[in-house]
Amino acid sequence: MRIAVYPGSFDPVTNGHIDILNKTSKLFDRVIVAVVHNVTKTALFTLEERNHMIKESTKHLENIEVECFNGLLANFLADKNACALIRGLRTVNDFEYEMHMAWYNKIFSPDVETIFVISNSNNIFVSSSGVKEAALLGGDVSSLVPPIVEKGLQQKLTKI
Ligand code: COA
Repeated sequence: MRIAVYPGSFDPVTNGHIDILNKTSKLFDRVIVAVVHNVTKTALFTLEERNHMIKESTKHLENIEVECFNGLLANFLADKNACALIRGLRTVNDFEYEMHMAWYNKIFSPDVETIFVISNSNNIFVSSSGVKEAALLGGDVSSLVPPIVEKGLQQKLTKI
């Protein structure tokens, strides 16, 4: 069985991430979304909320699983017996950072290949922080995120 892991903060998941999952689900037997607590970022949604929103937004894809994860990605890849690590590439700006990440991950997980998946052009400028900022300022983000995320953003932002 060919298992891929797609890691990220997903705070929150956007249509750009779903686009990557739609594509990846066709290439692997199982795709495990690893919702990671990124120590360098302050999150708006809890890990459980992010996990729930991804599960709801990927119901149409049978081979997608979602798990929360804390720690070194290499340990998670080994635990899951993954052969591939999925990363989305949007613009050239992502490239250098992704090359660094792939280099580190190759050191810790030599048997796992990083696979870069290109986002559709309508999603190349979508980012989780862009969506949060726009929603906070009253922007309509319905074309950028799944419906459950739009609702979650409205609920969060009324509490701020
Ligand atoms: N569509 C839309 N947005 C995308 C995207 C896509 N295809 N690909 C990336 N993004 C966005 C993300 O939403 C995120 O937006 P934000 O900065 O506004 O939140 C931004 O691009 C950066 O994404 P990413 O590079 O995936 O960062 P991340 O924090 O989501 O994930 C981890 C980084 C969690 C994968 C990485 O820190 C990690 O592996 N951590 C585990 C610890 C570890 O092992 N570290 C050593 C690894 S070298």
